[in-house]
Amino acid sequence: MDRNKVTVPDLARMKAAGERITMVTAYDWTFARLLDEAGVDVLLVGDSLGMVVQGHDTTLPVTLDEMIYHTRMVARGRRRALVVGDLPFGSYQASPQQGVESAVRLVKEGGAECVKLEGGVAMTRTIEAIAAIDVPVMGHVGLTPQSVHRMGGHRVQGRRRGHGPGGRERLVEDAKAVEAAGACAVVLEAMPLDLAAEITAMLAIPTIGIGAGAHCDGQVLVSHDLLGLSAWVPRFGKRYADLGSEVTRAARTFVAEVRAGTFPTEAHAYRPAASAG
Ligand code: KIV
Repeated sequence: MDRNKVTVPDLARMKAAGERITMVTAYDWTFARLLDEAGVDVLLVGDSLGMVVQGHDTTLPVTLDEMIYHTRMVARGRRRALVVGDLPFGSYQASPQQGVESAVRLVKEGGAECVKLEGGVAMTRTIEAIAAIDVPVMGHVGLTPQSVHRMGGHRVQGRRRGHGPGGRERLVEDAKAVEAAGACAVVLEAMPLDLAAEITAMLAIPTIGIGAGAHCDGQVLVSHDLLGLSAWVPRFGKRYADLGSEVTRAARTFVAEVRAGTFPTEAHAYRPAASAG
C-alpha cells in the first residue's frame, strides 16, 4: 500500500488540521488513475454515473450490481486516494439489514473503503447498523438526488425555514443525526452557504460541499463537470478543461484523415515478415 494512502481516519485528521479535503467522482480505471495521480484525496464512485455515464435523467435506475462493477474498476486504478462507493436507490432504504448487506457487497466485491448513502434522520438506524460492522459510512444531506420526485426536481434545499423536508432546521437536524449515527463525513449538496457554514461549525466530522459554498471542510465535483465532458454544468460546478470539444475535434480529424487516405501511413503499419532462406 502507498505510504501516503488516504484512509478514513485521515478525513478527521484533515478537518482538525484545517486541511481542505478534495473529492472527485470516478467511474472507471483510466480516470481513477489520472485523478489519483493528480492528488485527489477521495474518489467517489457516485451514482451520478446513471446520468453522466448511462444517460438517464435521474440516478434512480442505477443498480447495486452496476455500482459494484464501477467501484471495482476505480479501486484497481487508485494508489493513494480513498475509494467511496455510493449505495444506489433501492439498495438500503427498505431496512438497516438491507443497507448492511448492500454495503458488505460494495466493500467485498467492489473494493470500496467507505460507502455513501443519502438521507438524514430517517437513515440513522441504517447508518448505525453499517458502521457497527466497521464499514465506514459517508452521509449526504441537502439536495439528495435519489429524492428527486419528492423534491420536485434537483432543487436547492434549506432556503425556507422549518422542520419539514428540505427546511433549514430540518437540514441541521439531518446533519446532526448522520453524525450521531456514526458517519465519518457528510456531503452537503445544494444549500445556502451560510447554512453549510453553520453545519460545518457544528459538526465534529468533516463536511464535503457541492453547491454549498466555500466554508465546508472539503469540496466534491462530478468529474464530467470538472473536465468539460457533461452536456451542461450546474451553476455550482466549474469546468477546469474542455475535454468534450477535444474529443470531438480529435475524432473529427480521424474521420477526415481516413476518408482522405492520409491515415494510416507506412509509419503505422507492419512490414511483411522477411522471407525465409
Ligand atoms: O453521485 C454523486 O456523484 C454524488 C456527488 C454529487 C456528491 O453523490
